[in-house]
Amino acid sequence: MSSKLFSPLQIKSITFKNRIVISPMCQYSATDGFANDWHLVHLGSRASGGAGLIIQEATSVSPEGRISPGDLGLWKDEQMDKMKIINQFILSQNAVPGIQLAHAGRKASSASPWEGGRKIDVALGGWETVAPTAVGYHENEEVPIALDKSGIQKVVSDFASATKRAVQAGFQVIEIHAAHGYLLHQFLSPLSNFRTDEYGGSFENRIRLTLEVVEAVKSEWKKELPLFIRISATDWAEGGWNIEESVQLSKILKEKGVDLIDVSSGGAVSFQQIQLAPNYQVPFAEQIKREVVIRTGAVGLITEATQAEEIIASGKADLVLFARESLRNPNLGLTFASALHADVSWPKQYERAKK
Ligand SMILES: Cc1cc2nc3c(=O)[nH]c(=O)nc-3n(C[C@H](O)[C@H](O)[C@H](O)COP(=O)(O)O)c2cc1C
Repeated sequence: MSSKLFSPLQIKSITFKNRIVISPMCQYSATDGFANDWHLVHLGSRASGGAGLIIQEATSVSPEGRISPGDLGLWKDEQMDKMKIINQFILSQNAVPGIQLAHAGRKASSASPWEGGRKIDVALGGWETVAPTAVGYHENEEVPIALDKSGIQKVVSDFASATKRAVQAGFQVIEIHAAHGYLLHQFLSPLSNFRTDEYGGSFENRIRLTLEVVEAVKSEWKKELPLFIRISATDWAEGGWNIEESVQLSKILKEKGVDLIDVSSGGAVSFQQIQLAPNYQVPFAEQIKREVVIRTGAVGLITEATQAEEIIASGKADLVLFARESLRNPNLGLTFASALHADVSWPKQYERAKK
């Protein structure tokens, strides 16, 4: 039987050669938001390694939206230059270049993981962060500034401007980052959004900023190119954002023309309780796909070819995203094809290694 993981998927004008996606992964290696040779090699080697879609890391729409000083950014035109080169290489490998657009909100101004990951105080070279409400992620850290209306409008227009640059830089998929406790998720979750205006309180108010960002991105994105959004299906915490709200939001996003929900979870609060296990987020992708009738992406502790094949073959999701396994194995697309007896073409430079 032929592999479903290696069957093509068409969304709008783009055909993905298989269902294997390199999940966005911060590299904490940019300077002033600019990509460099590390990003070319990191993303490029995973494209030559056979994945169908390569999603560039959380790329900030503004300097203050960066998680760390080393995040990629698209807030100025010059930042497109290296990304254009990277994208041309990805396309030359018959893979699709995608980008995740992000704003970290109260989780911005943090050190890279290998420097401890903690918030960097303004006095130590960090910057003031913004959030729905002036409450930090951790106690004892500098509290963020609650966004006022004009601050919210700036966030929305920053997403639009970054989208315009993403088009010019040659990206063919945009994924809006509304997960993992970053700014949009901070608005979605009642555990980080205590506003009393039209952006807080009810479900309709908490989703407002996410919907405004979707509209802003759509206003600059090409109609024939796919638009994804990553959400955290649940906060894994009492009183938090949950799968029922995720289903409800996904229905609205579908009406707004979003093509795929990339279903992750967690990240909103430090007291979350996650039971980690292989496929632990797949049931959320399956539920959203079934109840909303929209394409979904499954991610999280998916490491084996047969495991990914089962997710696609059983219709639980349309794409499978790999993060850490793709760091261990950049040639994941090629080696999984061999494991599943799917005949895929290898880069001609590597053909002598094809079994
Ligand atoms: C080094 C690293 C960086 C990451 N950066 C991002 C990111 O930029 N955006 C995002 O949505 N998720 C990010 N993640 C989460 C992954 O995309 C993925 O959702 C998570 O690691 C679970 O998948 P896995 O079990 O295959 O690693 C990152 C994960 C890792 C390991």
